[in-house]
Amino acid sequence: MSGQDPVTVMKQEVGRAAAQRVKSGAIVGLGTGSTTAYAIQFIGERIQSGELKDIKGIPTSFQARVLAKQYGIPLTTLDEVDHMDVAIDGADEVDPNKNLIKGGGAAHTQEKIVDSLAAEFIVVVDGGKLVDKLGSTFLLPVEVLPMAMTPAMQAIEKLGGKCQLRMGVKKAGPVVSDQGNLIIDAKFDNIADPAALEKDINNIPGVLENGLFVGVADVVLVGEVKDGVPSVREM
Ligand code: A5P
Repeated sequence: MSGQDPVTVMKQEVGRAAAQRVKSGAIVGLGTGSTTAYAIQFIGERIQSGELKDIKGIPTSFQARVLAKQYGIPLTTLDEVDHMDVAIDGADEVDPNKNLIKGGGAAHTQEKIVDSLAAEFIVVVDGGKLVDKLGSTFLLPVEVLPMAMTPAMQAIEKLGGKCQLRMGVKKAGPVVSDQGNLIIDAKFDNIADPAALEKDINNIPGVLENGLFVGVADVVLVGEVKDGVPSVREM
């Protein structure tokens, strides 16, 4: 790993480990983010080398669709399949029960649809994403319809979340999701009951989806670097 940043190495190795678990003939959910990008790259490389055959990908975002095309992964849609074998996706936080916060890339709505449908959902993270309680390091993303922004923020504040509208980088104004909606990032300190909060937030009129993924992950692969040596372990 000479000269490479350890976090990048962890992401690469965990992406490679997840890609290795994909079998020929599989319908694969393709997640979003910098870690999953490596899994998409390695799945593509296995297809190009002839090691993997008859793969169909279902992307969770514009980014995943572009990467899949770039690496030669044939795509399909949820309208055309009756099952999904596996989904690979990153996370922003993972708790000891394999519950997650996702949405750092504003893609959690499509991610939750795809990841929940997969027979096996494999989460790929570097060791820095593991937390004892969700909400300790990351704000909870909530996708809302633009006209509901103000009342949705007020309702989330009543549930204990301090809200901010996610703003664009190299773009004036807010981040706009792939669905044309806004993202509220809410600070909850140490979420005690993720399942209840997930439901309560999704019950607010105008909320499309929040980034709590409770009971969805089957496997969590964690990339680590110890004494300069990268490894991957299953949580
Ligand atoms: C996208 O909306 C997110 O859910 C990502 O999967 C998550 O933010 C992890 O991204 P990184 O792998 O880039 O950290």
